[in-house]
Amino acid sequence: MVKTPRKFMNPFSKSISDTNRRFIVLMIPLLAFIILFSFLFDLPFQKVKNGFFSSDSSSSPSKDELLRSKIAVCLVGGARRFELTGPSIMDMILKEYPNSDLFLHSPLDSDAFKFSLLKSAPRIAAVNIFQPQPLPENETFVRVLSAQNSPNGIQGLIQYFDLVEGCVTMIKSHQIKNNIKYDWIIRTRVDGYWNGPLGPENFVPGQYLVPSGSSYGGLNDRFGIGDLTTSTIALSRLSLIPKLDSAGFSNLNSESAFKAQLTTQKVSYQTKRLPFCIISDRKYDFPPTRFGVPVAALSSRGPLSGTKCRPCKPVCVGVCVEYVMMWVEKGWSWTDWADGSLELCNAEESWEDGWEKVFDKVAGKKFGDARKKIHSMNFDDCIHDFIQLKNLTAQWNAPPIEEICALGLTHS
Ligand SMILES: *[C@@H]1O[C@H](CO)[C@@H](O)[C@H](O)[C@H]1NC(C)=O
Ligand SMILES: *[C@@H]1O[C@H](CO)[C@@H](O)[C@H](O)[C@H]1NC(C)=O
Repeated sequence: MVKTPRKFMNPFSKSISDTNRRFIVLMIPLLAFIILFSFLFDLPFQKVKNGFFSSDSSSSPSKDELLRSKIAVCLVGGARRFELTGPSIMDMILKEYPNSDLFLHSPLDSDAFKFSLLKSAPRIAAVNIFQPQPLPENETFVRVLSAQNSPNGIQGLIQYFDLVEGCVTMIKSHQIKNNIKYDWIIRTRVDGYWNGPLGPENFVPGQYLVPSGSSYGGLNDRFGIGDLTTSTIALSRLSLIPKLDSAGFSNLNSESAFKAQLTTQKVSYQTKRLPFCIISDRKYDFPPTRFGVPVAALSSRGPLSGTKCRPCKPVCVGVCVEYVMMWVEKGWSWTDWADGSLELCNAEESWEDGWEKVFDKVAGKKFGDARKKIHSMNFDDCIHDFIQLKNLTAQWNAPPIEEICALGLTHS
């Protein structure tokens, strides 16, 4: 099924032929350069990695071993479209590892009532829904971080870092209370839509695993798995900023701060393709420019490794995706599109009319039913479900249930 909208095809093929010759002339020294660099830097780096972590980092535990180990799943972010993402997180992560304990860390807003869906999660260790408040900014943060490309500037970055780090705080407190230690921490986002199960090959002893692509000048920080040691460093996003400052880093975005955090703390990492995308309501230019953001159709086969996505009828598939993605900067918003894994939306406007139908068709009846349930939920249903959820949760730290439900739903 190769559809190529003419409108986008012509300007691209013209510019390709124009730059064709220059491209090839540039490619030869560039390739030599890349090969040289990989020899210069990769080999010593590999040695450093193995020096620090003596364990055979390539061997992941089997599924059986993982099911016998202690796993914490840290779920962070606002509930925005949780009626679409929640059931997939439940199926592809929580029910894949039913021995895992869920930790939810989320700001209170008018969508928080959607977390009522979690009442069917296998195990819930802690829920922390908090009233968002501005966090203090000081010179250290201003020096190290960049407000560019962050929707809410430096404050937005600090809020996000605090949200992520708060999850480690919850996990550590739960460990102390119950005198346990987790073997693995899976860090994931509330707005992640999973179209395949999280496989055991993504648990790598002694290393931190992140998705490939969408690296924005650093490392893709939309998901991560590591043991307790590597995860503690990877998730301590706020408290490690002064360390980055001492190391002389400045002008960092979320992804480059994340990479600097791991490298300065000598945590080695691996990237793998992972079967999820980040459902977003944001609008982006189409086709994406070199530093633009491609928005995947939810129907893409994937793995999308955390690319932004929405339910849409794709406007660009097959050879069109090749033409669009070859101009997207590899170290920035680029994501792997090989083998037809990616289909693109035109995300210049709000979600299209009839997106619900598109979603239900892609996600199937079970996930579609959850969407409808939230869509038609009333205040009393919400209270009912939240009471169940609270009852299943070991550590409950949230505003009154009535307040959570009333923010998003009118009293009947
Ligand atoms: C800014 O705040 C962080 C964390 O609250 C702190 O570690 C750092 O020392 C502060 N920097 C300055 C210059 O006060
Ligand atoms: C809460 O859970 C206990 C068992 O853990 C159960 O007996 C009780 O009925 C539950 N209460 C509600 C309101 O669901």
